This record gives sequence, structure tokens and C-alpha cells, in this order.
Amino acid sequence: MAITASRTSSLLEARAKHVPRGVGNSHPIFVDRSAGEKIWDIDGKEYYDFVGGIGVLNVGHSHPKVRAAIAAQLERFTHTCFQVVMYETYVQLAERLNALAPGKSQKKTLLLTTGAEAVENAVKIARMHTNRPAVIAFHHAFHGRTLLALSMTGENEPYKQGFGPFCSEVYHAPYPYEYRGWTAKRSLDALNDLFESQVSPSRVAAVVVEPVLGEGGFVPAPAEFLRELRRITHDNGIVLIADEIQCGYGRTGKMFAIEHSGVEPDMITVAKSMAAGMPLSGIIGRADIMDAPTAGGLGGTYGGNPLACAAALATLDIIEEENLLERADRIGARVLGALRELKARHPKIGDVRGRGAMIGMEFLSDGDVSGRQLAQRLIDEARSRGLLLLAAGSKRSVIRILVPLVIGDDELDTALGRLTASCDAVFAASPPASANAT
Ligand SMILES: Cc1ncc(COP(=O)(O)O)c(C=O)c1O
Repeated sequence: MAITASRTSSLLEARAKHVPRGVGNSHPIFVDRSAGEKIWDIDGKEYYDFVGGIGVLNVGHSHPKVRAAIAAQLERFTHTCFQVVMYETYVQLAERLNALAPGKSQKKTLLLTTGAEAVENAVKIARMHTNRPAVIAFHHAFHGRTLLALSMTGENEPYKQGFGPFCSEVYHAPYPYEYRGWTAKRSLDALNDLFESQVSPSRVAAVVVEPVLGEGGFVPAPAEFLRELRRITHDNGIVLIADEIQCGYGRTGKMFAIEHSGVEPDMITVAKSMAAGMPLSGIIGRADIMDAPTAGGLGGTYGGNPLACAAALATLDIIEEENLLERADRIGARVLGALRELKARHPKIGDVRGRGAMIGMEFLSDGDVSGRQLAQRLIDEARSRGLLLLAAGSKRSVIRILVPLVIGDDELDTALGRLTASCDAVFAASPPASANAT
């Protein structure tokens, strides 16, 4: 792709020289400022942002209430370490999250910094509570890049290759990815096979599931699958952990995506949109389970940082005051409509799916051009038209939509117009071939 702007090109050179290539970059641009659903790069170009820092900005970029909350906190103190000197906002946030989590059981919340840290701590707590070692995760799952979270991640390239050996006692079962032939029933049969052939349920501490796959391709798990998973884990004394780091916080039209199934998990991991860009994660869990570790077993220097807690409390206010759950449904319906129209015109769009405003569009291969290449062409074309997109899926052939939920209808229509025009341009340049789906 042509990079003409001089500030961007000189920074790209410096980036290549000073930053390792392992940190992949989706877009060859540098941000100057952002607001709502928009980003402006250092050369002044404006973009609609359908990525939101990978699902971090459900309340939009630089929301005035979030900025004000951080600024007010900055004036008072920035850090004490909650384990050393406590502060009120940590407790207030825990109380609000406990009240929001689904189900009647009493909850407690632990605050941390990153998503991977939340997942790792959830497993530690489940192990302590059950006194069992094993963990079951799913194919296509993404749980983070630290060693246990990476061991649980069910996608090989590029996350796991070369980074082993991985943690022991981590098992993977197929995720119910219906478009790829994995019905809820087939996945549950495979889970039972896993119990028979690899690990007895009596040795399993936790099953960790994303109610909607994020990195794995925006695949919602059928409600009956989640309900059966709840029954199996309950009957076998296994802790059920819903990883809502990408699909939670209003993205699917409910505060937590698991609510669509009516299931009460034992723990929910949250991060990303929780604090609108400040590094914060958490585990909301059944109080008796969360209290399994003894004092000193949990924590971290920066866990529940005061600036992040201030941002998180403002984020909860915004979700409520601006009706963002309802808004997610309305946005999702509009996006789905636009993508379904595209699918009707372009046979190499294999699937359009989603829940609320968490929508994915999966490409098939087109002759020699793979689904991944088609997705990348769309991403490049859309960027040139002022729209930022991101791929997902183990084949990187899914375009995922994570538009900030504060976007207005007119702005959304303009951005979707750019998406449609970009997609039409990609297929006009690459006429349909007779190749089969992959
Ligand atoms: C479902 C899920 N779990 C865990 C993580 C890891 O979060 P982090 O990158 O903050 O460690 C991610 C990140 O994309 C995620 O989508």
C-alpha cells in the first residue's frame, strides 16, 4: 500500500528499527487524537474506527465523562497499591460489578490489570477452590499471551508457534462453530469424549469458555450449548468461567454475553471496555469461590489502579445513562443488514453472524485468493476510504465489527457506506472464481 505522508513514513521507519516485529500492526498509521467513533492520524486523515482498540472502546474514544473522572483522580493520587493502602473506588467498582453479574448468588470481584492476568487468576482461584489441576478450554479460543493463558488459547498461528513448552493439564475441546460443522451437539459429544479419553471430570478444576468467540472469529455459542455446559460443570463440581473480555460490557446488547443463555457462570473475566482504555481487568465470581485463596494469594502491584477505577466507574455510568445496551442491539441490526446485503451480492462472503453489535463477516477463498487475502484487501481498501477494520479467526478470514456504541445513526450509515463501497471495490478487482470454500 502506498504511504505518501512524510510524518507517517519516517515514523514507520523508526518503528521498524526500534520495536520488535513480533508486535504486529494492523494499520500503518499513527494516531494523533481520537473522539467518539473517530481517529485522526498524525497526517490529519480522519477515520471511522470499527475496531475500538480491539473492543476496548464501547463507550467511544475520549468520552468527556471518562476524561473528567481520570483528571479528577489524577489530582488526588495515582497509586498506593490496593494491597498496601486501600481506596474507596476499588470497593465501589466491585460492589457495582457484583450487582450487575447474572444470577442470585453473592458475588465478589477481584481487580487486576490485563485480560490475560484475569484469566490466569480465575484458573488459580478455581484450582484452589476445587483442589484439582486440570483446565478445559476450546478450539479457536483466545485467552491472552502469558504462559497459562497462552496454553489455554486454542489458536496456533501466530500466538503459540515457537513459544512452548506450554503448561500441563490444559485440554481443548471443539467450540460450537456451526458454520464450520461443529453443532452444539457435536461439540458436546467431543467434550464427553475428552472426559472419557483424556481427563476425568473429577480432575477438572475449570471449564473456560467465551460466550462469543472474539479473536477466534466472532462466533456466538448456541444457548443450548452453554446451558448444557452449565449442567455438566455443575454436576461434576467444575467451576464454569465465562471469558467476557471481548464479548462483555454491553457489546452484545446485554451487559454480559452469557446472559443471552440464561446461564449463571461461577466466574466472569472482564477487561477491555471496562475502563475505556485504561488498563483494568477483573474477575466477578461467586463469593465462596472467590474467597478460596488466602490473604496474599491474589493481587498485583497495579491491579485495580485508581485512575483505571475512576474510568471504570464513569464507564458504567455512561453505559447506563446513554442506554448503550439498547443501542448495541440497534447498531447490530443496522450492521447485520448492511453485511447481509453484501453477502447477497458477493458469493465469497460465506457467513455473516453475530450477537448485538458484535458482528463478523467470514470470507471464503476465491480461486487462488484465500479468504484471508480477501479480508486483508477489504481492510486495506476500507482504510484508504477512511474506515478502520480488523480481521479475526484462525484463518484471519473474518472481518469483525467492534464499532463504539456511542456512534450516531447518520455516522454509522456513512461508515457502513464506506464498508459497502470498499467491499464492492475488492470484488470488482477480483472477479468470482469457481473455487470451493475453505
Ligand atoms: C476473550 C479474551 N480473553 C483474554 C484476552 C487477553 O486480554 P489482554 O490482551 O488484555 O491480556 C483477550 C484479548 O484479546 C480476549 O479477547
